[in-house]
Order: sequence, then structure tokens, then C-alpha cells
Amino acid sequence: MKINPIKHTNFRINFKSYNMIDNDTGNSLSTNFYHDSEVLQKSVKIIEKEFPDGTDILVYAGSNGEEALSLNTLLNNRQKYKIYSIDKSSKAIDFAHNGIYAIHPLAEDGFLVNHNSENNKQLLRQIFYKNFIETSKPANPVNNIYDPIYTIRFDNIELYPQRFFIPKKSCKENISFIKGDIRDIEQLNKYNKAGAIFFRNAIYQLTDNDLNGVFKFGDKPNFETDKRKVINELIEKIYNKLETNGIFVLGNHLQEHLYIADKTIPLEDTVLVDKIRNIRFMKNHPIIEALNKNGKFKPLFEFLIPGLGNNTLQIPLIWQKIK
Ligand SMILES: C[S@@+](CC[C@H](N)C(=O)[O-])C[C@H]1O[C@@H](n2cnc3c(N)ncnc32)[C@H](O)[C@@H]1O
Repeated sequence: MKINPIKHTNFRINFKSYNMIDNDTGNSLSTNFYHDSEVLQKSVKIIEKEFPDGTDILVYAGSNGEEALSLNTLLNNRQKYKIYSIDKSSKAIDFAHNGIYAIHPLAEDGFLVNHNSENNKQLLRQIFYKNFIETSKPANPVNNIYDPIYTIRFDNIELYPQRFFIPKKSCKENISFIKGDIRDIEQLNKYNKAGAIFFRNAIYQLTDNDLNGVFKFGDKPNFETDKRKVINELIEKIYNKLETNGIFVLGNHLQEHLYIADKTIPLEDTVLVDKIRNIRFMKNHPIIEALNKNGKFKPLFEFLIPGLGNNTLQIPLIWQKIK
């Protein structure tokens, strides 16, 4: 007997359309279309208002390309900009080149995120369908449905079948998908500065700030990596690559904003969170510290960070290089 797929109309929209682990590093490559759409929409407004023709947009931690494609769909005059979707994972870049995207319709239009207003969801849905074409199931998997994280969330692929989409040519012809590490950012188009640099939900990987080590008993946090050093070096490189008045955009994951104190942090700059395992958080936000240093960047817009301060804490996620 074949059970018909369940069609959800009243849905909880919170899922990853691309859910994978990089085999080499064990890092998450997860992303989804319109991830933190408010930030993407705001960034696009700034780009369209302020950036001249020919401006480069660098989407680092671009994973399989869903972030760069989402951005592109939001741009009215996308042919004016060149977008680079760059990730250090070969696996993610292979998927980007493959160019077929799986949407998991646990939610009917699962590429939309949770906290959007109904009007905005409707708008994003329309924009998505204008730019993507539904296609049949490809021979090769485009999403690791047997990934443990995935199966915990959606345990029955027969009941919740995926749908597959490819971007229209007009939606991807100004995007290049490239394997690269943000730490080598100066090497990319050596003589060009960028108008916007996105590096969202990846600084926690660069700094080994894995909160599982705090919240999941048994996992061990990393106290060795000097987080401030890594972040200061990163921000310096981003600063050097940006045009004056260009923007730098951060992710909204809790792990980007709540830092486990490594052993370089003086005790008085920490808050104790686990007495038995002596786990402490940093009192100060090392990314904001680095961005504010010497008045090189100014915050433009704040956004809600889920999980901080009873879900009321706003942190600037879009920053502008000011001198
Ligand atoms: C959790 S995913 C986030 C993807 C996407 N930015 C988003 O927010 O939906 C983190 C991605 O960052 C990439 N990444 C981590 N460190 C990187 C680095 N140093 N340079 C470029 N990409 C990196 C990983 O390979 C992974 O694809």
C-alpha cells in the first residue's frame, strides 16, 4: 500500500534545505534559501541604493550556493553586480556546480524562514518561483537525506518527499561558484576591492566555538584556539578587501555571538556557566570588539539573535567600512 504524501498547510517553517557535514572537517555545511531573509533583504537595499555598476559581492561561506542565489533573486538589477559564492568545502562547491536544489516540503514552501510576516513570506515565495524551475528527481542525491541531523528532523522521506529546483539562467549567470578560504581573501581578484562581503554562520567554525561542547554533555569545548586572535586577523583582512563604505554582513546563529572563553581570556572577562567542567563564556563580543577597533567599521542595522536574552537581544549584523 502506498501512503500519499502529507500536504502541510499550517506549517512550522524551520528546516535546512541543504543539510550536510563536510567529510574532511566534520563541519556543518547547512544552509537554506533566504536564510535570515531580513538581513539579506536589508543588504540588497543598501547594495542597490549605494553601489555602482560592476561592484563585486563576495559571499564567503556560500556553501552550495543557496545564499548567493537568494541574494541574486532579491536584486532588481542583478546584471550590474558580479557575485562570488565561495566556500572552503569541496563538497559544497561540487553541489553548487551541480546546480540542483532540494527543498524539503515538511513545509509547503520550505525555503522560507520562521519569523517572516505573512506578506513577506508571500513575496519571497513569488520571487523564488519567478527565478527557479521545478525539475524531476535527479539521479544523484542533492541532499544528504540519510545524514543523522536530517533524519532526526524529518525521519520519513517517503512521507515527506523532496522537491527539486534549478535556478533559471538569468538567476545564475552573474554568479561564480569557487572553492576558497576567507583567510586567503586578498588572493581573490587581487586588484579589486569588494562592495560587500558576507561571511555568515561560519566564524564559529573558524574559531572552534562549538556550543555543543557547552550544551551537550559529553562533548568537549575547545579552550585552545585563541578566538580573539583569529577574529582580529579575519576582520583585518575583510577591512583591507572592502571598498570604503562597503558592507560586511554577519550571521545570526547563536554560536556566532556567544563565545566560549578560551584559555587566553582573563578570568575577570568571563562568566562561569558550568562549574563542574569550568566552562566560561566571554563577557565581551569579540567580533564587535574587532569591528569597533580604531573606528574602522560602524554598525548599520541590528537584528534579533535567537536564543540570546530570552530572544530579545538585537546585535548589529550589517557593518560598514567607514575610513
Ligand atoms: C553552517 S554553513 C553556513 C552557510 C551559509 N552562510 C548560511 O548561513 O546559511 C558554514 C559554511 O562555512 C564554510 N566555511 C567555514 N570556514 C570557512 C572559511 N574559512 N572560508 C570559507 N568558507 C568557510 C563551511 O564550509 C560551510 O559551508
